Amino acid sequence: MSNVKEIRKNFGQRALDYRLSSTHSNPSDLDRMIKLLKPSADNIALDVATGGGHTAIALAKSVKQVAAIDVTPEMLAEAKIASDQEGLSNLTFKAENVHNLTFADHQFDIVASRFAIHHFDDVKIALQEMCRVLKPGGKLYILDCSVLDGEEPEREINRIELLRDSSHQYSYSPRLWQQLLKELPLTIDQASLIKDQYELPEWYDRMGTDLHNREVIVQILNNLSAESKTGYPFGDDYITAYRFELLATKH
Ligand SMILES: C[S@@+](CC[C@H](N)C(=O)[O-])C[C@H]1O[C@@H](n2cnc3c(N)ncnc32)[C@H](O)[C@@H]1O
Repeated sequence: MSNVKEIRKNFGQRALDYRLSSTHSNPSDLDRMIKLLKPSADNIALDVATGGGHTAIALAKSVKQVAAIDVTPEMLAEAKIASDQEGLSNLTFKAENVHNLTFADHQFDIVASRFAIHHFDDVKIALQEMCRVLKPGGKLYILDCSVLDGEEPEREINRIELLRDSSHQYSYSPRLWQQLLKELPLTIDQASLIKDQYELPEWYDRMGTDLHNREVIVQILNNLSAESKTGYPFGDDYITAYRFELLATKH
């Protein structure tokens, strides 16, 4: 069942936080994305689930035109403010669901999506749609929350993510990503797992996680097996998390 109502509720009330978020506007992440994509000045790009617009804006500085889509109108409004503040005029913002894009086939040289795939309720359809609108030879860039390979981290870290954010669907481990990608018309140029630490309580506050759920999250981390625990160190003021980054070319 679609979780769009939950997404709009959760993100609608926090749209400004996402525009101002230092995690989402991290310049070294955005620079790395641009270095990997190597955009050309005549490229047309699509930013899927633009949120506060950071990905779309970074792309707009290097390409001809960027279409930015999101299901949450408040996010699109914040992204437009951010783009206006940068003085950019080559972006369009549109309310669209990634599962049912209205764009024609083979329209984009670049399709990018950051920090969003874990919200999609049918990741296979979402990825097929992203590939459908990409030109042959076009580049797909994905950065998203991930978990370590293994039955326990895949189950327990996704439980944690859902306790933190009720619109969370699923964070894929690298091995599950490999299974998803096999079914798509893509050549993988680069796939990597990035280890991160998020500061507490900001990581909870950004999604409004209640105190009870924060306690359950700590219990889950304490109850992990010794092997999983080594991959997920945490303290009163930080939590460990992973991100999966992908660059692929459509064939
Ligand atoms: C964390 S924000 C994205 C951050 C942004 N991409 C960046 O680089 O800063 C996640 C976004 O995904 C959007 N979203 C979730 N499900 C979606 C869907 N099915 N189609 C389009 N957007 C979706 C939410 O509305 C939210 O704005």
